[in-house]
Amino acid sequence: MKLTDELIENNKRWAMSIKESRPDFFEKLSKQQAPKFLWIGCSDSRVPANEIVGLLPGELFVHRNVANIVVHTDFNCLSVLQYAVEQLNVEHVIVCGHYGCGGVKAVFSDDKHGLIDNWLQNIKDVYDRYQEKLNALSSEEQKVDLLCELNVVEQVSNVCRTTIVQDAWDRGQKLIVHGWIYGIRDGLIKDLNISVGGRQHLPPSYPPGV
Ligand code: CO
Repeated sequence: MKLTDELIENNKRWAMSIKESRPDFFEKLSKQQAPKFLWIGCSDSRVPANEIVGLLPGELFVHRNVANIVVHTDFNCLSVLQYAVEQLNVEHVIVCGHYGCGGVKAVFSDDKHGLIDNWLQNIKDVYDRYQEKLNALSSEEQKVDLLCELNVVEQVSNVCRTTIVQDAWDRGQKLIVHGWIYGIRDGLIKDLNISVGGRQHLPPSYPPGV
């Protein structure tokens, strides 16, 4: 049996178990999706969005990329954000980073990784901005973890500064942007308490408590 055949078998069992407990689940879901949350997270296989927040298909709109970065010229991410805010009317956008992120770690070494180094330059920019704070820490692990948090703060700020979110707030749409970080060592999410619900609440350049 091929490794991928196992996945198809898993899928059959999964679909059957859902159908057994909720016979109309897929039928209902096929007609519409009405998620209340947009998740912007890292592609890392250890951070499966729906699973770690206990949400079923249809309940979480998801965008993932390496190191959960929101860049104002990334039409992929912006299209997801626009659709989520303007068509699905999500009420919450959650930027969730994770400790020990490989994309963040890469910033601390001089190794070359090819194309992706251009993408990771966005994190290098965050590093440069907070260099003093980061250098005050002694271990590399602490530095990586703090930069993982600071990267979330920056990306929350980037989400808030998009025309999409600004326009939503101008229309009076209820929309809160959150910054969370997930611990791959304990499976727990920490709220960085930097939620923004309008222009007047734009995050400070440095989060409280870190
Ligand atoms: Co990561």
